[in-house]
Amino acid sequence: MVETSRSAAVAPCSRPMTRILAGSRCSCLAVWSLVGFILMIHFFTHIHRDDEEDVLVPLSHLSDIRELEEVEEVTFHFSPPRDRRSPRALKRKGPRKPPTVIDEFLDESSEVHAFFFPNRKTTFGPTKEGNNSMYFYPGRVWLDTDGNPIQAHGGGLLYDDRTETYYWYGENKDGPTYHAHRKSAARVDIIGVSCYSSKDLWMWTNEGIVLPGVETNVTHDLHKSNVLERPKVIYNDKTDQYVMWMHIDDANYTKAAVGVAVSDSPTGPFTYLYSMRPHGCESRDMTIFKDDDGKAFVIYSSEDNSELHIGPLTDDYLNVTRVMRRILVGRHREAPALFKHQGIYYMITSGCTGWAPNKALAHAAESIMGPWETMGNPCVGGNRVLRLTTFFSQSTFVAPLPGLPGSFVFMADRWNPSELKDSRYLWLPLTIGGLADEPLEYNFGFPHWSRVSIYWHKRWKLPEGWRTE
Ligand code: DGJ
Repeated sequence: MVETSRSAAVAPCSRPMTRILAGSRCSCLAVWSLVGFILMIHFFTHIHRDDEEDVLVPLSHLSDIRELEEVEEVTFHFSPPRDRRSPRALKRKGPRKPPTVIDEFLDESSEVHAFFFPNRKTTFGPTKEGNNSMYFYPGRVWLDTDGNPIQAHGGGLLYDDRTETYYWYGENKDGPTYHAHRKSAARVDIIGVSCYSSKDLWMWTNEGIVLPGVETNVTHDLHKSNVLERPKVIYNDKTDQYVMWMHIDDANYTKAAVGVAVSDSPTGPFTYLYSMRPHGCESRDMTIFKDDDGKAFVIYSSEDNSELHIGPLTDDYLNVTRVMRRILVGRHREAPALFKHQGIYYMITSGCTGWAPNKALAHAAESIMGPWETMGNPCVGGNRVLRLTTFFSQSTFVAPLPGLPGSFVFMADRWNPSELKDSRYLWLPLTIGGLADEPLEYNFGFPHWSRVSIYWHKRWKLPEGWRTE
């Protein structure tokens, strides 16, 4: 599937008229010129790719990467749910339509729910396992260095060169879950953005709430009754500031804006600047991406989440410019997580089903502004249900492993809408390599970039040498 991207130089967020191709008859010559042109482009792109510098992974690390790429199968059997209807109701209405596995996953009284949210006895982290275990257990409660569950949902990582430290920013959801209205989505009040620091990506120290929610001023964007989601932080080398972008909304998700905050230190405190609708458009799930040359971009779900928009930030990272492209138009994708390998941009997205899990898709592009091509479901291993639900989670960030080019950590949230503070983290290895498994229409064949794979592991650890540049 090839993505057609539309650009807007002066930001109006109204839908451009669909271009209608005139129904003129194509002459044979035109068809053959088109075929020739496509073949030429194909040929030159291959030459261009072959010219690219190869990034070599030391032989000693190859076996470690292979371990990450082992395909781990899972089988589970759950007893069918009981129909709790009274015999009279059963007689009157007949048997109830059986719930789907996702309904069961979301139902806190079900066996399926208990399986995917294992209890506190299975927690992992430095205080539990000793400092040398270093195993990730996707879906279990993850403890920080104080022995408390990590509260950094919808989060992202920043590697700070100056302190040679990783920082994990995310939503602190450590409050009661409730519904603002009878039909509205489950929520917790804004508590703020948490920050954790780590040298090894496994042992995380709580640095506190670096951007707190506001208790009293009801007109403030960060008033506890509003929504603050998916905070991400990047460092601006020119202004020497840490810049945070986040999704800001009201309880009904009608404000659909981004918020911006800054700090002189990665551990805050961050000063909240303002919220806005980027390019005058609705903005819900979002992320920011800093490219190798220091240019930064915002990517957000817009037009009722039917498409994503992407645009460069100003040099100080505090605003958008007038340039924006619409990508994945009509695909209804959210939770974007962007990363780059050997000059190609990649992105994982989810479908739009609230807190319920759905199938991830991987996308790729030669220019960050598009066109973006959809490559299919990146999930490998587990079983069919796990693969069709992103292992019962939703993407939030993809972090490169600097010593292992082509290997990344896929970060996702397993949301628990009956108790959002008990939502879990799924960190899994993501690798780029091998042949894509889905042919693409526009290329008359397979894409010339590689497959993106996210491997299911019940338990895994980072390979040796992941941090050496
Ligand atoms: C899906 C989004 O990805 C989450 O960040 C959150 O906004 C939920 N929807 C709310 O239903």
